[in-house]
Amino acid sequence: MASSVTSTTNSCHLGSSFLGELSALRITGTPVARIGFLRRIVECKESRIGKRPIEVPSNVTITMEGQDLRVKGPLGELSRTYPREVKIEKEASGILRVYKAMETRRANQMHGLFRTLTDNMVVGVSKGFEKRLLLVGVGYRAMLEGKNLVLNLGFSHPVRMPIPDGIQVKVEDNTRIIVSGYDKCAIGDFAASVRLWRPPEPYKGKGVRYADEVVRRKEGKAGKKK
Ligand SMILES: *[C@@H]1O[C@H](CO)[C@@H](O)[C@H](O)[C@H]1NC(C)=O
Repeated sequence: MASSVTSTTNSCHLGSSFLGELSALRITGTPVARIGFLRRIVECKESRIGKRPIEVPSNVTITMEGQDLRVKGPLGELSRTYPREVKIEKEASGILRVYKAMETRRANQMHGLFRTLTDNMVVGVSKGFEKRLLLVGVGYRAMLEGKNLVLNLGFSHPVRMPIPDGIQVKVEDNTRIIVSGYDKCAIGDFAASVRLWRPPEPYKGKGVRYADEVVRRKEGKAGKKK
């Protein structure tokens, strides 16, 4: 899977928190000077992250070919093509480092970002990731049927979601869904697509939410307090 810097539509594949922060700022109409200021802070932080070495456990094999990196571990295998702004090097001690290949602002941004993405790959194939979802609402239930996750979310028919290869789904007490696997990005995508059937509504918080999600409750008209 090649990563392209231009495809900002899916931040998951870029793993970019700072791009999201910047666009949020633009939407809220923060003055340009302030954005520039924040951007500088964010970049400093990002390149500090970029410098941190990535420890590769002994159960993970790294293969490099030009700008392509393959990471293989007990849980799976992932690969990524790096943009020319960054370089990746494996040290004899088994540590991976991401370097900037040029001194541009974009390279500064790529540096932290691709260090994070690389770390996610190594952690993913050795320890794995999981994302938990909760169904909140009377009669809302989840169950597994073969390779499908079946959801009763108050629609006239149950929702049937095929579970993609490389992803494991567990259901506890019919209301807790645990999505796990080695590809953080694929886990996030699948969990997000489950949540999208019934995002938590702001009045009673009914719906599908991430276990760590804070649902901002709005006061209903009837229950409004002074
Ligand atoms: C791979 O090695 C790491 C570090 O020693 C360990 O935490 C992890 O559990 C191992 N993974 C598997 C699936 O054994």
